[in-house]
Amino acid sequence: MIGTALLVTGAASGIGRAVCELGSKAGYHVHALDRDVEGVTATVDAICAAGGQATGHLVDVTRVEEVSGAFESVAKGPRLVGLFASAGIDLGGMAHELDPETFRRVLDVNTTGAFLVVQQALRVMIAAGGGSIVLCGSPAAQVGFAAGGVTAYGASKGAIASMTRTLAVDYAPHGLRVNAVVPGPTDTDLMWAGVAVGDRAAVRTKIIGEVPLGRLAHPDEIARCVLWLLSDLSSYTTGSLIGCDGGVLAKSSISM
Ligand SMILES: NC(=O)c1ccc[n+]([C@@H]2O[C@H](COP(=O)([O-])OP(=O)(O)OC[C@H]3O[C@@H](n4cnc5c(N)ncnc54)[C@H](O)[C@@H]3O)[C@@H](O)[C@H]2O)c1
Repeated sequence: MIGTALLVTGAASGIGRAVCELGSKAGYHVHALDRDVEGVTATVDAICAAGGQATGHLVDVTRVEEVSGAFESVAKGPRLVGLFASAGIDLGGMAHELDPETFRRVLDVNTTGAFLVVQQALRVMIAAGGGSIVLCGSPAAQVGFAAGGVTAYGASKGAIASMTRTLAVDYAPHGLRVNAVVPGPTDTDLMWAGVAVGDRAAVRTKIIGEVPLGRLAHPDEIARCVLWLLSDLSSYTTGSLIGCDGGVLAKSSISM
């Protein structure tokens, strides 16, 4: 692990930040990318304070030049062996009322943003002879949420699921593995973004009641799954959508 690097988008917060911190503890030099300058600085400072090595990059993943600029800097450091594309947004709304610009924005960040970062990582990793890429899916790619209004988000994550499989097949001959983690409800800013502060306690209780494991995930629990996918411990796993969802996708709500 010494002398190798991991690049994480969405590194300022939530699951991305947890992967940065766990990745640093595992010995990677961490490249932390996010559009949130304060958050990405906090991630880098926390890693450095704990004795790790990290570089922050202020990048909007929808901007081609910003993404490629970050990779020019990454190329000057330790060999890039892992990518976790976590940057994402969830802007909800029932389809018949949804502003088309909102739909476009969600796909732009969650799908095109992931593609732009993956494209750069592929170029670096092909030249280096291999690597592991982990994308971030969602149960919304596979089921409709009872809460409703997840059209844009679900479509963006459905694209991630099919991109994962296609990339895995295309790049296996280059020694590259591509998988996606599928987190269940995880206690992060994104999870609460669309919920009024006064409603959060009731929503939390409702969600907890619907998750078979009976609780929300902590971002560290998703990060451990991602680190496994990034490492050689998962050396024969590619093209897989790995659930880390507390049993959400195993459950049907039909009850007698
Ligand atoms: N929290 C959940 O319940 C849950 C469940 C399933 C999947 N996910 C997925 O996990 C991933 C991480 O989300 P999270 O829950 O940690 O949320 P979060 O809001 O804590 O983190 C998302 C990060 O992405 C960054 N980001 C957003 N748009 C960006 C852009 N254009 N350029 C660069 N950075 C950008 C934000 O600044 C933030 O730091 C997302 O892809 C999300 O869809 C989350």
